[in-house]
Amino acid sequence: QLRGVVALDGPSGTGKSTVSRGLASELGAAYLDTGAMYRAVTLAVLRAGVDPDDAVEVGRVTAGVKLEMGTDPLRPSVRLDGDDVEAEIRGPEVTGAVSAVSAVGAVREQLVEQQRGLIREALAAPGGMVVEGRDIGTVVVPDAALKVFLTASSHARAQRRTAQDTAEGREGDLERTHADVQRRDALDSGREVSPLKQADDAVEVDTTELDVRGVLGRLIELVAERG
Ligand code: C5P
Repeated sequence: QLRGVVALDGPSGTGKSTVSRGLASELGAAYLDTGAMYRAVTLAVLRAGVDPDDAVEVGRVTAGVKLEMGTDPLRPSVRLDGDDVEAEIRGPEVTGAVSAVSAVGAVREQLVEQQRGLIREALAAPGGMVVEGRDIGTVVVPDAALKVFLTASSHARAQRRTAQDTAEGREGDLERTHADVQRRDALDSGREVSPLKQADDAVEVDTTELDVRGVLGRLIELVAERG
């Protein structure tokens, strides 16, 4: 059983969400999807009719937003001002704007603070927490018991995203998804505040040639060794 935090970072399409949820339910741990938080405030920005590149207005909208995160790995949920937005935050509008919103310093400060509060709450109960994102091992929980950085080739990641879109009833387009994966990689890695980068003490797991079971098996080994 896990006592502390497993930090799972990496770019999109590495299977991060699937394996994070799987790992949390396997370990009886809580689960926090920080990407869902950046997505939900992005939806608030779009609903307010604010330009995602207008940092001042983005910060103003975010400051007035109430996010409630459900941390059960079997049914994670996101509420934005009381509204269940789990499906809507996965759509193309939010995906297209989320990198700009998450590059705003005030947004990150606010969400990181909320994330740390949720983590403290979870750690007050037995079972620990699996937290997934981009900056969990570097910024949010630098003293995490175990830090994993998931990678995969951009082609493999685009293929997974497309399959996921199709499975969930959205239009899947490999070319467009590959371009989007590369665009978001560049934005997330190149931004000034908390860029996507591997923590020095993170274990890198390349998932290009592994299926979900393979990745989960590797993570469970790592938890047994050091979690
Ligand atoms: O993981 P997911 O693809 O849902 O994340 C959506 C976006 O949220 C990422 O592309 C990134 O811009 C942002 N994000 C972030 N920091 C995190 C989690 C997500 O900046 N910890």
